[in-house]
Amino acid sequence: MLNFATEIAREAGSLLVQRLGSAKITNKGDINLVTEADIAAENLIIEKIRSYYPQHGILAEESGEAVLVGGKRSDWKWIVDPLDGTTNYAHGYPCFCVSIGLEYKGELEVGVVYDPMRDEMFAAERGRGATLNDRKIRVSSVEELNSAMLCTGFPYNVRERADFARDFAKFTMAAQAVRRDGSAALDLAYVACGRFDGFWEDGLSPWDIAAGALLISEARGRVTNFDDKPVDIYNEQILASNGLIHEAMLEVLKS
Ligand code: IPD
Ligand code: CA
Ligand code: CA
Repeated sequence: MLNFATEIAREAGSLLVQRLGSAKITNKGDINLVTEADIAAENLIIEKIRSYYPQHGILAEESGEAVLVGGKRSDWKWIVDPLDGTTNYAHGYPCFCVSIGLEYKGELEVGVVYDPMRDEMFAAERGRGATLNDRKIRVSSVEELNSAMLCTGFPYNVRERADFARDFAKFTMAAQAVRRDGSAALDLAYVACGRFDGFWEDGLSPWDIAAGALLISEARGRVTNFDDKPVDIYNEQILASNGLIHEAMLEVLKS
């Protein structure tokens, strides 16, 4: 299933690149966009899952949940963000990815994040580690927040919530650097391979988090919510790190 996930992520990624700069854009909300490419990539992924695994459930961003199979809930659930980083994509800013996770009985088994611009495939299978283009990856070994490069994101309701700006300011004062890249799934993959030392965001959806959370735990990092409880991908909040700076990040969020 990992191979299947990487194949469909690659196909969807090629579609995104082909349509970059020409996909029609519409507004889902005030600042929340969707493009024809989001929909086309999602349809491609769903069609493939339906034909290879017709009994499996699918939770995909643009189509919602379709987990009823033969009147019963399937034990398997594909969690799909066909284009994570839509605002970047719509502006031609080359930072976006395809994110695909697979749950079995509520536990993440497979996670794939594919960046088609750099041809980087991040992949993980529970208990088998994480890879970038087939080479094993691990989180960084940075021990101090003062030496850490962090990343964050703002959800689409950012204008109604001042706490995002406060946390951003606090981390900017405490860390070596803070980035806001606009693709949560790719940001999490970057924590898994050590490019970022930590990431936090409140207001995410399961399709933003599923694959990235597995990548980080398989790369020996730590993934929780802001209260240090194990991450729940259905509960919007994620604090992800190399483990070593996790306590310090929790302190900043609490302060
Ligand atoms: C968004 C991106 C962004 C994050 C938002 C997400 P989308 O996903 O991951 O980085 O800050 O919260 O909704 O809409 O581009 O798939
Ligand atoms: Ca997303
Ligand atoms: Ca998306």
